Amino acid sequence: MQDLQTLESEINANITAAADIDALESLRINELGKKGRVSLLMRELGTMSADEKKEFGPKLNQLKNNLNDAVQLRKETLEQVALNIKLASESVDISLTAVSQELGSIHPITQVMDEVSEIFTEMGFSVAEGPEIEEDFYNFTALNIPEEHPARQMHDTFYFPKGEDGTRKLLRTHTSPVQIRTMMQGEPPYRIIAPGRTYRNDSDATHTPMFHQVEALVIDKDIHMGHLKWAIEEFARKFFEIENVKIRFRPSYFPFTEPSAEVDIGCSFKNGEIRIGEGDDWLEIMGCGMVNDRVLENVDLDPKIYQGFAFGMGLDRIAMLKWGIPDLRDFFAADLRWLKHYGFQALDIPSLSTRSSALKGSK
Ligand code: DAH
Repeated sequence: MQDLQTLESEINANITAAADIDALESLRINELGKKGRVSLLMRELGTMSADEKKEFGPKLNQLKNNLNDAVQLRKETLEQVALNIKLASESVDISLTAVSQELGSIHPITQVMDEVSEIFTEMGFSVAEGPEIEEDFYNFTALNIPEEHPARQMHDTFYFPKGEDGTRKLLRTHTSPVQIRTMMQGEPPYRIIAPGRTYRNDSDATHTPMFHQVEALVIDKDIHMGHLKWAIEEFARKFFEIENVKIRFRPSYFPFTEPSAEVDIGCSFKNGEIRIGEGDDWLEIMGCGMVNDRVLENVDLDPKIYQGFAFGMGLDRIAMLKWGIPDLRDFFAADLRWLKHYGFQALDIPSLSTRSSALKGSK
């Protein structure tokens, strides 16, 4: 029988010399596999006398175990080396400035929200927020839309399952609940806008289940409809960057305002494109009115002392109008080509403060 120690050191040397995982694996199969030298020795045991077996058996087993351990150790070392090489070759220097043609862009809705906020904050409004998962009280009841009111049906509300207390939450159907939340905190005067997402179960070229509105609320002691008209006209002139935007107020009905009106912007629909500042068509962009006395009472304000106006404007609508985007559904299709076409450069945000046009001087 071959000198086991010599055999072990010879195979050990080969294991240490194996340059990569593949070489190590074929070495393992050759030496320790079924037809390898160690297995052949094992087989020889069968032909030995009992005494010889006693002597060689444990030694052979020890040899086999030692070599298997050595292979495992070498394998781990080689894997670590391979990983280090891979990591080094794939490392990214995150401190380097990204220079790429594939820059992201600002979504038109984000852009509209920024512009609207800028215009109204310049007029002295502050920006308020409310939750998108809303309670019935804020979305309906406090806004003078009691249970069984037909206006509830018109809202195509998404409801959550009933909670333990028997009430069910909903996805807010408009930004108007922020009016209630604002008036229930702190004292008047209030002068806020509240842009955000709203939800209704409705979908076609001009309706999507999620859409965007901006709410406005002004409450003080001497507010009248003239203020409402002025604020909307001033906004439209600045937002659309057209000095004589055509605006029309149509009498309407909302439970939370009295009197109420809807506002249309003059435009044209030609060859599948909307154009503002020309044509004889109209696109409705908002509902508005003087806050209903009942709403004021619901939030413990005395209508004999306080009055105010409110409006709710469709942000998606005014984005379509301003940039001539024909189909509302495209806003939310996440089509990169569309986003590239209609998106805005991150560092190229048009704003009142950077605009040089005649608008600034024509207050
Ligand atoms: N909340 C109404 C809607 O989504 C829009 C609206 C109308 C808001 C009149 C107002 C308002 O604040 O005064 O249809």
